[in-house]
Amino acid sequence: CGIVGYIGRDRAGSIMLDGLKRLEYRGYDSSGMVVAAGQGFEQIKRTGRVVNLENALEERQLGGNLGISHTRWATHGDVTEANAHPHTSSDGKISLVHNGVIENYTGMKEFLIEKGYTFQSETDSEALCNLIAYHYEKEPKDGPKNPFLEAVRKSLRHVEGTYGIAVICPDFPDELIGARKGSPLIIGIGKGENLLASDVNAITHCTQNVVYLNDNEVVHLQNNDFSITTVSSKNVEAVIHKVDWDTSEAELGDYDHFMQKEIFEQPTSLKNGMRGRFSDDASTAVFGGLNLSPQELRQVDRILFLACGTAWHSCLVAEYLIERFARIPVEVEYASEFRYRNSPLDKNTLVIAISQSGETIDTLGALREAKRKGYRTLAINNSVGSTIARESDGGIYQHAGPEIGVASTKAFTSQIMICAMLALYLGRLRDLSYGDGIEIVKALQKVPEQVEEILKQDAKIAEIAKKYAKYEDCLFLGRQLMFPIALEGALKLKEISYIHAEGYPAAEMKHGPIALICEECPSVFLAASGEIFQKSLANVQEVKARKGKVIFVASEECDIPEGLADDTIIVPECHEIVQPILMCIPIQLFSYYVALERGCDVDKPRNLAKSVTVE
Ligand code: G6P
Repeated sequence: CGIVGYIGRDRAGSIMLDGLKRLEYRGYDSSGMVVAAGQGFEQIKRTGRVVNLENALEERQLGGNLGISHTRWATHGDVTEANAHPHTSSDGKISLVHNGVIENYTGMKEFLIEKGYTFQSETDSEALCNLIAYHYEKEPKDGPKNPFLEAVRKSLRHVEGTYGIAVICPDFPDELIGARKGSPLIIGIGKGENLLASDVNAITHCTQNVVYLNDNEVVHLQNNDFSITTVSSKNVEAVIHKVDWDTSEAELGDYDHFMQKEIFEQPTSLKNGMRGRFSDDASTAVFGGLNLSPQELRQVDRILFLACGTAWHSCLVAEYLIERFARIPVEVEYASEFRYRNSPLDKNTLVIAISQSGETIDTLGALREAKRKGYRTLAINNSVGSTIARESDGGIYQHAGPEIGVASTKAFTSQIMICAMLALYLGRLRDLSYGDGIEIVKALQKVPEQVEEILKQDAKIAEIAKKYAKYEDCLFLGRQLMFPIALEGALKLKEISYIHAEGYPAAEMKHGPIALICEECPSVFLAASGEIFQKSLANVQEVKARKGKVIFVASEECDIPEGLADDTIIVPECHEIVQPILMCIPIQLFSYYVALERGCDVDKPRNLAKSVTVE
């Protein structure tokens, strides 16, 4: 879900609408806003995309210079206008937008119903809204303390769960309050205006000066001023950061979709990830923010990678690369599993969390659990200043630029690139030779131009995709380094085209998925040159023997026997360490064009959100 709040001199409604549009990728089943006007609130909510809210706002302009707004990804309750945010307390005193989950909302609701508050929605958020109203009602209005702020703080002390909230009260038409615990909230500091948002993207059109709120902090905002305290009323010193994103990076430009734009941006995003990160003699990688000395890194005897979704697939690539080139045992776990599992870790284990957004709650929870147990933690992520970046002991930024398309593309290849560089760096601290280091650096530096070459096959891949868009099942198969890419291919296709797709290690196919093979179930084979290629061919024969259609994505040197491929996409020959990056580009384009052919909304696939800040 996404939050935007505004206080200043401009029309809050139009600034917030702009922000919501930039945030829509965070959730898009409904949206709404409330603006303080005169003695009360004016509110509009709509189900569906933000454009529905925009149309409603064209018919009914909202005045007012203070407001809060929200775009929702449903957790508690169906997609209805009643369940959309903002929620207003039944006495009309408090309006609130909320990201996160209030775990103890049932008890809270029973208590409030007993006290005479009523509920319009099925959401947990409305319980918090009424709870703030309840505390506000009880606060002395002529005492030394601000009763609105006190009521927010007191209510939050009762919350179990997570929240990022923005709150307004008509009795305080010049004040906006925000708070966070587990769900991101950022303050945008402008001139004569201040903003609140769940994501920097939503406010960079107004200001580049931001303060990242920490857990258990509450911010009180006015036009020209803001102050931060903890939930337990201790003062907090704010640190202002400058966002260095070029706002045009988050705009569509000449492309039809963000996903397409981001696929085509990969030569640049990959270059940016490497910039300044090779040693002068070009034999190894260098990273500025690891906060671990070479000596400490030599003592690491196991690495545990944690992530969700696409980032989890990049961890699997890292597992192959680090074991192969740095000879350190690697394990990969879903962050959501690790955080509740009591897996024994050794004191020389290094924990690395990978997250594009740096805000995924499961990954954050897993990172905190690892820290609680005393492990060194690193983060690989794309959002400077994100919670995961701030809470890990050290890390590597991807510098891939903002990724807006819900299905990850450039962030994935950039994560693999960083992991390849990390494998090189760790390898060179151990037993990888100088010569091997030089060769790998050369291979990495060549990747952007090789990706450029693959992107030239765009039209051809679109033609192939059209042929296969009619099927309802698809397998992605690959061995070794190609296995995680097969998983990612299947994920991409199912995310944006709703085709049932499965990724499998090619040789495992005969232990189950082979039952699916028929004329109606094509297979995408990822075949990289190398010792395992011949073995992969045997797996393709098994598919062909069952009348399955085969699309080969293969590197140049692969000699594909006649009659085996129904379609072939060739990628340039390259060093093994960068094969996963190159092989990934055709499957991104393939999924994109299949989804287009099926008339799907590629940038905002149904039910998905870009950044999942609930468990
Ligand atoms: C969501 C997105 C995925 C993403 C995953 C992890 O499920 O839809 O594309 O891979 O979250 O996100 P992160 O920001 O932690 O990489």
